[in-house]
Amino acid sequence: MKNDIGEVLFSEAEIKNSVSVLAQKLAVDYKHKNLTIIGVLNGSLVFLSDLIRQIPFSVKIDTIKASTYVGASTSPNAETEIIHNTNLNVKDEHVLIVDDILDTGRTLSKIVRMVTKHSPISIKVCVLLDKMARRERGIEPDYCCFEIEDKFVVGYGLDFDNRYRNLPYVAVLRDDIMIP
Ligand code: IMP
Ligand code: MG
Repeated sequence: MKNDIGEVLFSEAEIKNSVSVLAQKLAVDYKHKNLTIIGVLNGSLVFLSDLIRQIPFSVKIDTIKASTYVGASTSPNAETEIIHNTNLNVKDEHVLIVDDILDTGRTLSKIVRMVTKHSPISIKVCVLLDKMARRERGIEPDYCCFEIEDKFVVGYGLDFDNRYRNLPYVAVLRDDIMIP
């Protein structure tokens, strides 16, 4: 697996530090508030599990499954498919949507629209990575660990063809691995 990796952008230690800083910010912003965190699977699973374990008060957790790419592709589908919708009642809740990366913004803008229909008190977006250069929708992260250039990255939950999610760091995949 390591032979497939090019440049490491964020090491395990850098991610750990940034996730801690972010969790501290959330702990201040959501203190004494009812918070529901909704993770977007599969990409957010590593980030989500590290982040929620550093939040020092009771929160509700749910997930939504979204599918952007089909198989071994690095270009998103025309339409993001939401596979599992949340069952939680968020009417009296502040909602924080957590995902691995904000890229074109199609996925998160669709999810924000969908969750907004359930009338939460507030709704904010939290991502590990922000790939601003590729944005197609008017959505920005409220919380973000790192901004990245327009490169396809893997690790810490991010995949290529459902692989590399278990790398503990974020790295650029070697170009020849992505050639079909
Ligand atoms: P968006 O709808 O274009 O913002 O895409 C968001 C989804 O695309 C993310 O949740 C990721 O699953 C996936 N994605 C976008 N960029 C990358 C990348 O560089 N590596 C792996 N997955 C990515
Ligand atoms: Mg994803």
